[in-house]
Amino acid sequence: MRGETRLVAAYSPEQRSLLDRLRADVTEHLSAKPRRLAHSISVADTAERLALTYGVDPFLARAAGLLHDWEKASSVPEQVARARELGIDLGVDLELVHPLLHGMIAARTLPSRYPELPPEVWRAIEVHTMAAAPMGPLDQVLFVADGIEPLRPDTPGILRTRSLVGEASLDDLFWASFVGGIVYVLEGGRYLYPGTVDVYNSLAAERAANGR
Ligand SMILES: [Fe+2]
Ligand SMILES: [Fe+2]
Repeated sequence: MRGETRLVAAYSPEQRSLLDRLRADVTEHLSAKPRRLAHSISVADTAERLALTYGVDPFLARAAGLLHDWEKASSVPEQVARARELGIDLGVDLELVHPLLHGMIAARTLPSRYPELPPEVWRAIEVHTMAAAPMGPLDQVLFVADGIEPLRPDTPGILRTRSLVGEASLDDLFWASFVGGIVYVLEGGRYLYPGTVDVYNSLAAERAANGR
């Protein structure tokens, strides 16, 4: 995407070493799911680039990208069972919202494995599947990176969001990605989690109050 190739992240030796460890760990953890692993690495690259473009911490963005789909190593029934164990309650049958669970599970289970990483990373991973109100800059970077990383197919919605990178504000970029995701669910006739409508209404009200 245009005009961003000169942006290069400068990491301390400690940050580089932790990022290398995260990449090695996720490579091992997702070894049975090569496409998911390739997606995770692509999200990390995309999140780092978006972070550099929008003045967000690229280290946190790359770390969050690498780990965001960690729980996808587990099957759907395992994820649902784990979510129940953890007391995750979304007010609907968890089977219906199983695609939303892996971020919430990872945000509860990975911090003890990686105490070096700050709460912002876990928050971004928690909300990457369904968004939340409010969305902080790191949350937005991970959400958008997950939606537009180059291994995703070139659908009209994804192409449109990609075209906004570096042109639109991060808020507007996120909004395009979030709304595009809802449209995708609706057009595919899939179940729309009612909480997503609440998040949409909260974020829309926030944007209206800010004149966007
Ligand atoms: Fe995910
Ligand atoms: Fe993902």
